[in-house]
Parts: sequence; structure tokens; C-alpha cells
Amino acid sequence: MKRGALVAITGGCHDCHSSGYAESGGKIDPATALKGAAVGYQGPWGTTYPSNLRILAEKLSEKDFVHLAKTFQARPPMPWFNVNAMEESDVRSLYLYIASLGEPGDPAPDYVPPGQEPKTPYIVFAPPQMPK
Ligand code: HEC
Repeated sequence: MKRGALVAITGGCHDCHSSGYAESGGKIDPATALKGAAVGYQGPWGTTYPSNLRILAEKLSEKDFVHLAKTFQARPPMPWFNVNAMEESDVRSLYLYIASLGEPGDPAPDYVPPGQEPKTPYIVFAPPQMPK
């Protein structure tokens, strides 16, 4: 679990999945850690929200979490390829760490397809495509 806490830091998971983390200078707030964020990232892919990883870990067994981590893909800016490349032992530690964080809370807002206006604040990650 200690190892999992480190993986979440050095793997960059808190950067996006823990709201307020970057602004606090990297303080891990047990109330919000890895619960996802309600500020969207908008680009040509639509608007995505860092998901609540506590809910994911609660839903999945350790084995299923490892399988997902090794195989999943997601929309930008989620660096899914970095997670796919993790050592299995690190993924297991990460799972135990996430599961230890407690009360999962609410899911992040739903993905918004391109061309639709999100109801939350969002960061424009890339300029929208110019109309032809
Ligand atoms: C640059 C921001 C960013 C970073 C860094 C990041 N994520 Fe994400 N993550 C996202 C976003 C945004 C989504 C939602 C993508 C989508 O809607 O397709 C996501 C989705 C996911 C999902 C899919 C969840 C599901 O319910 O299917 C997993 C698993 C995940 N992230 C794990 C991680 C882990 C583990 C780390 C650290 C190693 C990490 N993420 C780092 C932004 C990030």
C-alpha cells in the first residue's frame, strides 16, 4: 500500500484524478484523493473528466483491476499507455492504495461529445477544428 501511494504520486494519477492537488503544491487531501474532478478537458475528442478511481476500485476485484490497467484505452488527456506499461506489482499496489482511501463518493461528470456545451467549467486543451 505504501508502494501504491508512491505509484499514484510518481505515476501522476493525482495530477488529474485528485481535484485541487496541483494547486495545493502536491498535498494529498484524504477527502478528495483520486475521487476524480469536475473540471473538464476539452479538445477535438469532446470534454472528458478524470474519473473517480475509488468507484472503479470498489467495483473491480484486484484481478480485474490489473486486467483493465494492462489493456484499457481512454480519451485524451488520459495517458492510458503509461498505465498499460506499469509493472503488474505496481498496479496491484496501486489498487490496494486506492481501495484503502475509503468512501468512494460521487462519480465525475459524464463525458460530453464534441460540439456539445459542458455544464461544468472546462479547460480547452487544444483549439477546436476550424469550420471548413
Ligand atoms: C492528464 C490528466 C490525467 C492523468 C495524469 C491521469 N489521468 Fe486517468 N483519466 C483522465 C481522464 C480525463 C479520464 C477520462 C477519459 C475518458 O473519458 O475517456 C481518465 C480515465 C482513467 C481511467 C478509466 C476509468 C474508467 O472508469 O474506465 C483509469 C483507469 C485511469 N484514468 C487511471 C489513471 C491512473 C492509474 C493514473 C496514474 C498513473 C492516471 N489515470 C493519470 C485524466 C488523467
